[in-house]
Amino acid sequence: MTYKAVKTVVFPVAGRGTRFLPVTKASPKEMLPVVDKPLIQYAVDEALSAGADTLVFITGSSKRAIEDHFDSNAELEAVLQAQGKQDLLDTLRGILPSWASCVYIRQSAPLGLGHAVLCARPVVGDAPFMVHLADDLIDATVPCLKQMVDVFATYGGSVLGVHNVPKQDTDKYGIVTLERKIAPRVGKISHIVEKPRPENAATTLAVVGRYVLSGSIFDDLAKIGQGAGGEIQLTDGIAQLMQREPVYAFEFEGKRYDCGSKLGYLQATVEYGLKHPSLGSEFADYLRALVPKLS
Ligand code: UTP
Repeated sequence: MTYKAVKTVVFPVAGRGTRFLPVTKASPKEMLPVVDKPLIQYAVDEALSAGADTLVFITGSSKRAIEDHFDSNAELEAVLQAQGKQDLLDTLRGILPSWASCVYIRQSAPLGLGHAVLCARPVVGDAPFMVHLADDLIDATVPCLKQMVDVFATYGGSVLGVHNVPKQDTDKYGIVTLERKIAPRVGKISHIVEKPRPENAATTLAVVGRYVLSGSIFDDLAKIGQGAGGEIQLTDGIAQLMQREPVYAFEFEGKRYDCGSKLGYLQATVEYGLKHPSLGSEFADYLRALVPKLS
């Protein structure tokens, strides 16, 4: 069977970002730069590579900078033009291709990730869609969402990006149990639980911020109440969806950085800095000189 292409991506960016206070008091966590691009631009680039053409941002208070980032800035462009800075002008104009549309929906209050995703329903309708959490940065040869839409195209059911986490960290994630493996990196999920304590977690297979979801999940998200932490949890909606439709876990290829935590963010900054085409070798020299002084 061939399945319809997945064209819409939802970026829930309405969280409070408390782990990064005070920097997130007035500016969005998703605008934190990794070297020279904000996290949300890495997210958009990944979704565009996966075939998205409609970008739905679920925003909250203090998130205006995201809209400004993806809008054109005629005044700045005129200044760069006058200064003959064509490379910077090209960089600015390349942030978003003209064929991509942005839709901004305000989440009235940060009631949880499930609630944020539900806010996208008027745009998504009942079509399958991607969800991308920008603070999970994944460095991969084939962009993670592209890998996932390919899995969706093969099996048809919703697909969750998963990877193994240390046992002591299960209480930070949705944790899945597989009914059976159907390909080396793909398994059908039998159970999903939000943030189980390590002693109660059946596995260490954690859902990270990439999803390709069936549009029928909106019916579930509209019905579920508050779950773990008093929030409307996407995990609980997925658990309901699994009663009717298969949901698959996909162990993506790539390295994931938890940029919602300060340590993960610093790790991403160092490693993307080392890979940066114009900065990498100088930065490596700096680190080589620094590291012997650490112990
Ligand atoms: P997090 O659990 O990382 O929460 O949300 P947070 O508020 O962003 O950060 P901390 O924990 O307070 O530091 C996961 C993703 O879900 C979005 C967030 O923006 C983030 O991308 N989210 C969460 C919403 O859009 N709305 C919500 O109500 C909750």
